[in-house]
Amino acid sequence: MSKLPTDEPVPAKKVDLDKRAIEILRENSWGDYTLPTKGLYPYQWNWDSMFVALGFSEIDLDRAWTEVESLFQGQWKNGMAAHIVFRRDSPSYFPGPKVWGGTHEVATSGCSQPPVAATIVRDLYEKDPILGKERLGELFPRLMRWHRWFHTKRVISGGAAIAVTHPWESGRDNSPDWDDALDEVDPTGVTPYQRKDLGHVDADMRPTNAQYDRYIKLVEYGRECGWDHAQITREGPFAVADPGITFILMRADRDLRKLAKFLNKESAVHEIDTWLYRAEHAANYLWNDEIDAYAARNLRNGQHSDGVSSVAFLSYYGGITKPKRDARLQKTLDRILDSAPYSLPSFDPQHPKFDSRRYWRGPTWAIVNYLVARGLEEYGFAEKAKRIRLDTRKVIQDNGFYEYFDPITGAGSGGNHFTWTAAIWLAWASPMTDA
Ligand code: GLC
Repeated sequence: MSKLPTDEPVPAKKVDLDKRAIEILRENSWGDYTLPTKGLYPYQWNWDSMFVALGFSEIDLDRAWTEVESLFQGQWKNGMAAHIVFRRDSPSYFPGPKVWGGTHEVATSGCSQPPVAATIVRDLYEKDPILGKERLGELFPRLMRWHRWFHTKRVISGGAAIAVTHPWESGRDNSPDWDDALDEVDPTGVTPYQRKDLGHVDADMRPTNAQYDRYIKLVEYGRECGWDHAQITREGPFAVADPGITFILMRADRDLRKLAKFLNKESAVHEIDTWLYRAEHAANYLWNDEIDAYAARNLRNGQHSDGVSSVAFLSYYGGITKPKRDARLQKTLDRILDSAPYSLPSFDPQHPKFDSRRYWRGPTWAIVNYLVARGLEEYGFAEKAKRIRLDTRKVIQDNGFYEYFDPITGAGSGGNHFTWTAAIWLAWASPMTDA
């Protein structure tokens, strides 16, 4: 996809945005890892770092590999690659390492995040197999262990869809997908704490206090049971099958299989095949006939979420197609695209819970757009993929590199000079990436 740098003349404003995006990556880079944005998120976040690697791969492939390698310093003995790697103590963030009480030698949080890594590693490797061969060899067993952790510790016996046991694990913190299950979490007795996020961003763009109490209560539960991840999934206060993680892992499994082939690791290929064998079963479990979309499903009572999140359309990215179902899913996508000038809203604008400014309850996120469009494009929905890409381009051109955007007005929200938005710009949304 890379077209940087180029000799073609380009309009000044657009060149400036490419330059600015590179500056944002460099400004937020702390040696071998990158912050999502200073202040609000002062550590290394799992999937943020992988999008950052994708961005860096446009300008500095060596640095891109280093970003991935540094994330795995936060990999636990049981295989989990943690959602946050805490490398310095930063008073601007809550909850920090002490609250999590992780058991790994490098301080981390106690849950994971969407596993985009294997897909990005394959992208890096394919850009330059000679440069990447040795680095891939080192990372491959780590990726295998992480995927195995998901397939063993985040499924309940007999199931196949991947559960999140904390909304933060999904990467979509306050999505309405978690509301019903989160209501069941009793926040009584949560240790008093002070939120730090509200010192950086308006309260109406962030999760509510009632949600925050439950987030912290779930962290306390995990800490108290010594971060026994299988037990947390089986018996903990919150376990919801997530279409986001399920489809992202499915895709990552396919890419990991390809990498195993490159490396002639036949026994790994067989193991990955046993995971992929269950992919359709997982998709069937998540399909919600009432809303014509894939939707989160509470593992404790089987209840589906009744709203359409943008991750519903990651089925193509995950490699799932079922003609009759897809016809319905495409109609749902058309309806949602028609209801938001700056697509793709993270939650259905026609649903009563839609909130155009509040984080994962409506705003558009460049990273999800990239993943959804990548899958749509691969399955022949080129026009819709293009629409999502051009919407992403326009919203960034008009507003800057914000964390997320109001899908109706395009207004930038959350943190500014945000690394993953800059990375997606460089790798996919910039006019420089046009074929
Ligand atoms: C928020 C987002 C999550 C992201 C993190 C750092 O928690 O919901 O997806 O990884 O911020 O940017």
